[in-house]
Amino acid sequence: MTEEIAVVPGDGIGQEVTPAAVEVLEAVGKFEFVEREAGDATKAETGDALPQETYDIATSADATLFGAAGATAADVILPLREAVGSFVNVRPARAYPGVDALRPETDIVFLRENTEGVYSGHESRLSEDLSTLTRVVTSSASKRLAEFACDFVEDEYDGFTVAHKANVMRETDGRFREAVLSVADKRGVDTDELLMDAFATHVCLSPQKFDVVVCPNLAGDVLSDLAAGLVGGLGLLPSANIGPDRALFEPVHGTAPDIAGEGVANPTAAILSAAMLLDYLGYDKESMQVDEAMTSVLESGPRTPDLGGERSTEDVTGAVVDRL
Ligand code: NAI
Ligand code: MG
Repeated sequence: MTEEIAVVPGDGIGQEVTPAAVEVLEAVGKFEFVEREAGDATKAETGDALPQETYDIATSADATLFGAAGATAADVILPLREAVGSFVNVRPARAYPGVDALRPETDIVFLRENTEGVYSGHESRLSEDLSTLTRVVTSSASKRLAEFACDFVEDEYDGFTVAHKANVMRETDGRFREAVLSVADKRGVDTDELLMDAFATHVCLSPQKFDVVVCPNLAGDVLSDLAAGLVGGLGLLPSANIGPDRALFEPVHGTAPDIAGEGVANPTAAILSAAMLLDYLGYDKESMQVDEAMTSVLESGPRTPDLGGERSTEDVTGAVVDRL
């Protein structure tokens, strides 16, 4: 069976790094790619940032590869994550040999709740002076995340850290904390916990103390970007949005308007997202090959300017494909 992969490059450097990821997938497997539009340019053209046919393909394809969207990001990526039924965003932040990193000891996987918290869209303007936001936390979503985390750490890790702010958001993060810890306890998985602000300091000072970090939606968004800073920048971080039957893979970064169109975007995040996609579809060997080829190119070059190099997206992608 040939798996169908939906490809949604989006805006800005999404148009540059997504083809790089597709090229790498083509080098290791036989897939049917179906490309669809979304983002700022699509909105300008059609009035809709996420056309129905783009949403629909994500609900039926075996996996979706997404680039980035600009100002319309929330209108595009939140519904697309929902289209694949995603409840967890897996974000590995790893330092690589040969890449100048603030903290070369960093090797952390963030498991971010992906459906609720402050990103559930319940914002209101109550008066000229006052706006409010409703933070949604359910025991069911928190437990589903915790079950995933327990499965995730099963073979490879000793346990996980829960980052939350239950001392202040006693009701919402209190519920999150209790749900996650109770599942871990039942499953016999070791945990420790840290308030998310204290975690931010600890992860900068001693990233080697953390392997897997489970956190609410906003905390996972912010803390994983912080970890990107520790390992050499946003151009390096891939992610997977996992649902029960499908998944969507995307770099953590956005459209990078400051470098878009110059052909120098770092394709690493998109290529490593493709490696996560391969792993998800059961192509373990191919996933490892892509990971190793990318790691080897990061070590020896060519490198894009964000990593101190002078080479293009195409040069880096070509070097990865050569190794495959
Ligand atoms: P950004 O991630 O696009 O860029 C932040 C900085 O990192 C920039 O200096 C950029 O040049 C650099 N950078 C990011 N990816 C890179 C890569 N692959 N290679 C080299 N350098 C890279 O974040 P920013 O500037 O906050 O947002 C720009 C736009 O992207 C906004 O319109 C925002 O809404 C959107 N965005 C979309 C996301 C998505 O679609 N999932 C996620 C984050 C932002
Ligand atoms: Mg983000």
